Amino acid sequence: MKPRILVAREVFPEVIDRLQEHFEVDDNQADLVLGGEGLKARLADKAGALTAATDPVTAEVIAAAPGLKAICNFAVGYNNIDLAACTRAGVVATNTPGVLDDTTADLAWALLMATARRLPAAERWLRNGEWKGWQFIQWLGSDIHHATLGILGMGRIGQAVARRGAGFEMKVIYHNRTRLPADKEAACRARWVDKDTLLREADFLVLVLPYSPATHHIIGAAELALMKPTAHLINIARGGIVDDEALISALRQRRLSGAGLDVFEGEPKFNPGFLELDNVALAPHIGSSSRATRMAMAMTAADNLIAALSGQRPPNLLNPDAWR
Ligand code: DGY
Repeated sequence: MKPRILVAREVFPEVIDRLQEHFEVDDNQADLVLGGEGLKARLADKAGALTAATDPVTAEVIAAAPGLKAICNFAVGYNNIDLAACTRAGVVATNTPGVLDDTTADLAWALLMATARRLPAAERWLRNGEWKGWQFIQWLGSDIHHATLGILGMGRIGQAVARRGAGFEMKVIYHNRTRLPADKEAACRARWVDKDTLLREADFLVLVLPYSPATHHIIGAAELALMKPTAHLINIARGGIVDDEALISALRQRRLSGAGLDVFEGEPKFNPGFLELDNVALAPHIGSSSRATRMAMAMTAADNLIAALSGQRPPNLLNPDAWR
């Protein structure tokens, strides 16, 4: 008998087809958000699952699934999974690093350019029929070329964001707990600086670090106060890294020029204060959302699950202790 698995959110039919070659699949093509209780019910008789960043794989969920052996996230971030609880229960957990770096870096740039040149507000104004004629002094934005690009969190996605800065002849600085080796810094044309210097000098600050209790509100009122009033903040990482209330206040008072945001505290709900601002570009957590990349993410997660449940070490194992 094939092992039973859950696919917790809607994925492409090709992914279900591939999984069905190996497993008896309980899918969720209706894309209901299962939540903790739903996951507990659907995972109780499963050996594995493909999960998304929206699925809370808590200690309670894991405890309710005695036959569970593998949780394979189709996301690079895994703050939805209680990794310690997985390890204690001998459940391997995996993510999808590598396949979404360029697509997510592209979205960081889309938001950066949108906020720099005030595109969302200008488009709303045009659509509202408010454009009465061309004016010399109209919708003035910020220059991107030759500006300073700052990156907080210099993993693979951060480096992909940095490399794109070369096309705009930007000065690139970054802060990361661990400094990159010299060859990688050279490839990104990036210089390591301490966090305060990064905040003070960046014209565009892109956040690309994982969410954890240690990074909760790592950008709050004090950090925003260090930034230039002409600067822009771009968050493509996770909600909760930025104190949204403090950000709204800085943007409202023009202590910060603009922001481009793909993620929010408590999403899909978000602080309605953002809607009153004309200096933000907002996106609904679509960093990795191109068809090719989402397909690659789901197929990577499927590969991990197939490996884990056939006794092979999954390629993107997050908790080697569970494997041992
Ligand atoms: C990721 O891969 O972590 C993206 O944010 C999608 O959830």
